[in-house]
Amino acid sequence: MLDSKIIVALDFPATEQARQFYKQVTPDRCKLKVGKELFTRAGPDFVKEIVDTGFDVFLDLKFHDIPNTVAQACRAAAELGVWMLNVHALGGRAMLEAAKQGVDSSSGSPLLIAVTILTSMKESDLQEIGIETPIPEQVERLARLVEACQLDGVVCSSHEVNKLRSIVNRDFCLVTPGIRPAGSDVGDQKRIMTPKEAIDTGSSYLVIGRPITQAKDPMTVLGNIEDELAG
Ligand code: C5P
Repeated sequence: MLDSKIIVALDFPATEQARQFYKQVTPDRCKLKVGKELFTRAGPDFVKEIVDTGFDVFLDLKFHDIPNTVAQACRAAAELGVWMLNVHALGGRAMLEAAKQGVDSSSGSPLLIAVTILTSMKESDLQEIGIETPIPEQVERLARLVEACQLDGVVCSSHEVNKLRSIVNRDFCLVTPGIRPAGSDVGDQKRIMTPKEAIDTGSSYLVIGRPITQAKDPMTVLGNIEDELAG
């Protein structure tokens, strides 16, 4: 199967809307991301439904808890047959290592990645919680830790990819949200790139939500992104 670089964020308030969307696409065209909202409404059965349809599913639940709890949660998530799942790097080394052990002890073999710093956070937000390190330095520090704990990659801003590529291994996944095709609404994303720019700079996978899911004609937008990447 073609390894599509496009991960569509299924950020729909109702299961039926998410189902209507995925029934219009095929697994070779995109992967699908299930986040906290849809998972809380639709649950593991819906995740299994799309996995069974043949899609690579990124279960974006960003676990952050004590090591034992995160290990068991990662194990349970891996056993749903998902392609990728994630935790927060700020959970620290013991939690990251436990997450990895949880995945390794499961019957599945998903990629395990970690969120560095949420792209919604500003330097002043970090200072307020006692993190004085500038964001780029903090992201690098966390990416090194994630790699040292043998996870498969990080979620980061496309603007951080260039620097991170120079410090991590070639096969370390850099998964980037904040992607906007030329001419689409920016919404609440701050530091954006077009799909082609993000791939050219070294992103492994692009997380794209509203530009596709809220479009009048989502299939045309997806097709245009595919053409942009192919060209
Ligand atoms: O609609 P949009 O393309 O902005 O969607 C981006 C998706 O990526 C959303 O599901 C959002 O939760 C997720 N995300 C993000 N920034 C992060 C981590 C995840 O936008 N740092």
